[in-house]
Amino acid sequence: MMKNGKAKIKMPEKKIKVEIEPIGRRIFLKQPVNGLDAIVNSGIGIKSVCGGKGICGKCRIIILDDGEFPPSEQEKKILTSDEIKRGVRLACQQTFHKDLSIYIPSSSLSEEQKLQVEGEELDIEISPVCKKYFLGLEEATLKDTKSDFTRINECLRKEYSVDARTIDFKVLTQMPTVIRDNKWKITATLRENSSGNEIIFIEGGNRTKSSYGIAVDLGTTKIAIFLVDLLKGKTVDRIGVTNPQIRFGEDVMSRLGYAMQDEDNLKRAQSLVVQSINEAVDGLCKKNRLSSNEILEMTVVGNTAMHHLFLGLPVKQLALSPFLPLTSEAIHLKAREIGVAISPGGYVYMLPPIAGFVGSDHLAMILATRLYEQEGNCMGIDIGTNTEIALKSRKGIVSVSTASGPAFEGAHIKYGMRAAPGAIERVVIDPETCVPVIQTIDDREPVGICGSGILDSIAELLKAGIIDRWGKFKPEKKCLYRDRHGNYQYILTPEFYMQKRNNERIQKDGVNGIGETRQKTEYGRYNDRCDDKYVSINQRDIVEIQLAKSAIRTGIEVLLEDAGIGFEKIDRIIIAGAFGSYIDPKNVINIGMFPRVSLRKITQVGNAAGVGARMVLISKKERELAEKIACDIRYLELTVYPSFTEHFATSTIFPEPWELI
Ligand code: FES
Repeated sequence: MMKNGKAKIKMPEKKIKVEIEPIGRRIFLKQPVNGLDAIVNSGIGIKSVCGGKGICGKCRIIILDDGEFPPSEQEKKILTSDEIKRGVRLACQQTFHKDLSIYIPSSSLSEEQKLQVEGEELDIEISPVCKKYFLGLEEATLKDTKSDFTRINECLRKEYSVDARTIDFKVLTQMPTVIRDNKWKITATLRENSSGNEIIFIEGGNRTKSSYGIAVDLGTTKIAIFLVDLLKGKTVDRIGVTNPQIRFGEDVMSRLGYAMQDEDNLKRAQSLVVQSINEAVDGLCKKNRLSSNEILEMTVVGNTAMHHLFLGLPVKQLALSPFLPLTSEAIHLKAREIGVAISPGGYVYMLPPIAGFVGSDHLAMILATRLYEQEGNCMGIDIGTNTEIALKSRKGIVSVSTASGPAFEGAHIKYGMRAAPGAIERVVIDPETCVPVIQTIDDREPVGICGSGILDSIAELLKAGIIDRWGKFKPEKKCLYRDRHGNYQYILTPEFYMQKRNNERIQKDGVNGIGETRQKTEYGRYNDRCDDKYVSINQRDIVEIQLAKSAIRTGIEVLLEDAGIGFEKIDRIIIAGAFGSYIDPKNVINIGMFPRVSLRKITQVGNAAGVGARMVLISKKERELAEKIACDIRYLELTVYPSFTEHFATSTIFPEPWELI
C-alpha cells in the first residue's frame, strides 16, 4: 500500500528458532512458548508423566546454549546441582523465549520417538528403477498371431512410449496364464537395467497403485528391514531382527574365520542370514496385507564382511592381510539366485563396498547425511565394533576404519549388556559425595550397563576425580570398594548406597528405621570388600573404554593430519548409528574420544545407513550418485600410517581436568 508516496513495507515477523537434537528437527515459534508445549506441538514424543507440573522429572532436556535459561525453584528441587550445571532442565518448566538448541536425552523420548531416531528420511525425487504399466492387450486371433511378448511390447510403445528389451524367464513361464485368466488386462513391471528394460513381474488387472520394495541395513549384530512404498517414497513399516550369524562369533573377524574354514560353513552362514531376512520380509508383508511376491526390489547395505557373507562370496582374501574385498562394484542380481524370497523376477541391489573394513553402510551414511556437499570441513562418524570415520575437506572425502571393539555394545565389560530394559543408560556422579544417580532403560531395576551408560560413567568418574588421567582409580577418594578378588570397583547400584546409609544410621543409633538392631555389616568402611551383586565399573572396564576411545581418536587425528588441518577447523561433526544417537556428546568430549569442540558443531542423526539404503531403493538418481561417491572416496589404511602408533598411545590418556566441560 502507498501512503504519502511511500510504500509501506511489512517487515517479516521475527520467529524464535529452536534446534532439536538428536532428532535433527528445527522448529519456529511466533512467540515465547512453554518448552514442553513447543516440543509436543512439533510432533516429537517426549515423556510428561505429570502433565507439565514439574513433579515427575521425565521431561528432562539439555539446553545447549549457555545462560539465559536459569533453573526455576521447582527444577532445583528435582534436578541435581550437577545436572543444572550441565544445562539439564525440565522442558515443562522452561519458556523458549529466544533462539536456542536443545538436546532431548533418549530417556526423555517416548518409545515411539526412540524408533524414529533410527534415522530421518530425506526429501528426494522418487524415481525407482522399477515401474508398473497397466496394459489392455488386444486379444490374439487367427488373424493376429503375434507372440505374447510382442503384444505386450507393442502396447507399451503405443500407450507409454517405452519398451521392454527382455523378460525374466520365470515371468515368461507364468505370463500366458496371467494374461488369459485376466482377460488380457495386465500390469507389467519394467526394471531399468543397463542393457535396457526388463519385464520382471506380470500381475492380472490394474496394480499400478501398489508398488513396494525392501531396504535392508545388514549389521553384524542387528538387521534393520524397511518396507517401502515405491510410489510415495515412504517407509510403511520396519522391523529389527538379530543377525543369526551371531552364533558363529560376535565380531566380524570370528564370523569370517568360521566361514573360511570350509565351504559348508560359508553356505550355512549365508542361508541363515537370508532365511532370517525372508522371515522378516514375510512378516512385514503379512502385517501390511501384501504378498512377498509383490516386493519388486531389495537394496542391502552392510559392512564388507556382511556383504560377502550375504552373497555367499569367498572370504579368505577379506579375512587375511591385506584384507581385500572381492569387488568394489555395485551388484545387481536376481534375488532368487541367493534364495531371497521376493517377486520371482525381482532383483537385489547392493551398494559397492569401499574397502575390506569400510563397507557399503559407510557409503550409505555419506549419502544420507549429504556429507559430500557440506560446506567447509565435515566429519561423519559411525560408532560401532568397527568405527568408520569420513573426513570431507578440500582434499575430498577420505575414510578410515578403526577397531574400536565391542566395548560400547557392552561386550568385555564386567556388567556390560546391550541396550535392553534394566540397562543403566545414564550416569551422573555427585562430585561432593561421589554417589551416582542413574537412569535405566524403562526405569527397571539395574541389571547391567549399556554403551551410553559406560561412556557416562567414565566421564563422570573423571569429573569427580575418582579416576586420574591415566584411568587409574584413586583410592584416597574413599568411594571405592573391593570385589571378592580384592580389586577396586566403583558401585553404580543405588540400593547399595541406600543400604550403606541405613547401616551408618544403625551404627550411630543402634537401630534401623523399623526398630531393628543390627550388627556391623559389609558397608561400614570404604575400601571394604562388597558383594558382587551390584552393578559396578572396575579397572579393566576402564581400560577397555580407553582402548576403544583411543582407536576412534587415533582415526580422527590421522584423518586431520592427512588433510593438514586441526580439529578447530572442523565445521560439523555428524554422529551416525544407533549407539551414536544415545550418547551424550559432552561426555564423548570429556573422555577425549573427540578433541574439545563446541557442542553446536555436533549433530546426531541416528541410523543414516538405513536411510541411505532406502534412498537408493526409491531413487535411481541416488543410486548413481552413491556409485559416483564410492569412486571418489579415498581409503586410508590406519595401521600403516607413520604416526599411527604414536597417536594411539597418546589417545589412551584422558583430558586434563580443566579441559572437561
Ligand atoms: S512433565 Fe513432569 S516434570 Fe515436566
